[in-house]
Amino acid sequence: MTQAGQVGLDAIETASRDEIAALQLQRLKWSLGHAYRNVAHYRQMFDDAGVHPDAVTSLEDLAKFPFLVKSDLRDHYPFGLFAVPREQIVRIHASSGTTGKPTVVGYTKQDIDVWAQLVARSIYASGGRPGDIVHVAYGYGLFTGGLGAHYGAERLGCAVVPMSGGQTEKQVQLIVDFKPRVIMVTPSYMLTLAEEFERRGLDARQSSLEVGIFGAEPWTGAMRETIEARMGLDAVDIYGLSEVMGPGVANECVETKDGLCLWEDHFYPEIINPETGQLVAEGEEGELVLTSLTKEAFPVIRYRTRDRTRLLPPTARSFRRLGRINGRTDDMLIIRGVNVFPSQIEEILLNQGVFSPNYLLEVDRTGHLDTMIVKVEWPASGPASGITPAAATGALVHRVKSAVGISVHVEVVPAGTLERSIGKAKRVLDHRPKG
Ligand code: DLL
Repeated sequence: MTQAGQVGLDAIETASRDEIAALQLQRLKWSLGHAYRNVAHYRQMFDDAGVHPDAVTSLEDLAKFPFLVKSDLRDHYPFGLFAVPREQIVRIHASSGTTGKPTVVGYTKQDIDVWAQLVARSIYASGGRPGDIVHVAYGYGLFTGGLGAHYGAERLGCAVVPMSGGQTEKQVQLIVDFKPRVIMVTPSYMLTLAEEFERRGLDARQSSLEVGIFGAEPWTGAMRETIEARMGLDAVDIYGLSEVMGPGVANECVETKDGLCLWEDHFYPEIINPETGQLVAEGEEGELVLTSLTKEAFPVIRYRTRDRTRLLPPTARSFRRLGRINGRTDDMLIIRGVNVFPSQIEEILLNQGVFSPNYLLEVDRTGHLDTMIVKVEWPASGPASGITPAAATGALVHRVKSAVGISVHVEVVPAGTLERSIGKAKRVLDHRPKG
């Protein structure tokens, strides 16, 4: 669809694995050479490691190359890792992160074109079609979500409503009035919008929305079920990160909903053990490392994403899939020596089906003991099952203890009191002293 402008799949999406590998190797050699020739930092790193792009004869050879890490981006702030003259850059995005300088990325005209193509492919995989109205509620601006989604939807031949994040009441009004078939938004903000539908006495399941393309933050299978039930749409996962491009590095196919199909003709994946940096066995979980195969302005060679996932064999397309990204290596909480991902708590909470899906984890330390409070809301109309708050709280504490291995305190607060997300949700407040 995306290259020829006709409806359907790109030929490479259904090509043989041999064809894909051949294309990847050809592109990998180009990308390594391009980075080596045009970015002093890569040249230095490759020379120090005793590796050279010309010596690459197989995809496996990539594993000999050094990693790029987030601090490399900060160290070369703002444009030090760009591989083309500044005049060829047509777009700049940046992500603020939690500490220090923002990480800055740049795009050539062709990079923007490829990005639009891949987001169009992602929307198509999600079930969007030319002629659809697409409501984009990812933030517009330095964040890649809004503009990334926007260009892709236009490329597919859709009518875009560039709503951006926030103005929740207006969002719902425009959905009611314009009747979009597709919405692109973070899953947590989708929940906020669902509540606004309900607050107005509208049945969100009767809205025009049929496809939701959700990403930019971790979300669980249980959250998918919750959103699908409340909104009456197909909820599909989209993945990406600004360092590598933005949204549309990988996207789920609606017909299988079985993980993120990685657009392998443009990105080469590896999974490593985050402690040792070594590749893990096929199918094992670890940290995702991505190498761009076609990017001009900002090539990334073995970029450590910090995202934890696994590589899965192809299903709906010829490309391999990423398992659901349950969090970043740096999101992991260590509570009294036990490794805990917020997504584990989310899964249990939503599967219990009593409390509202908004929650907050507050971590603290009393003496030498770590404590975790799970703050949950009692649903405004009461739970469907008629269970009491005390019984529901007890059951949640018990489930977390048996599944995760930690004792938590559950605090039930009135409906609507936890802060609502308008973009990426903040689910954890860690009050423990650092260091
Ligand atoms: O969040 C790009 C994006 C926008 C993706 C819209 C999808 C939709 P950054 O702000 O650079 O870029 O944040 C990237 O967000 O490394 C993951 O940790 C997380 N992330 C993104 N998509 C998913 C997802 C955008 N589907 C970081 N599941 C990534 C889990 C995700 N985490």
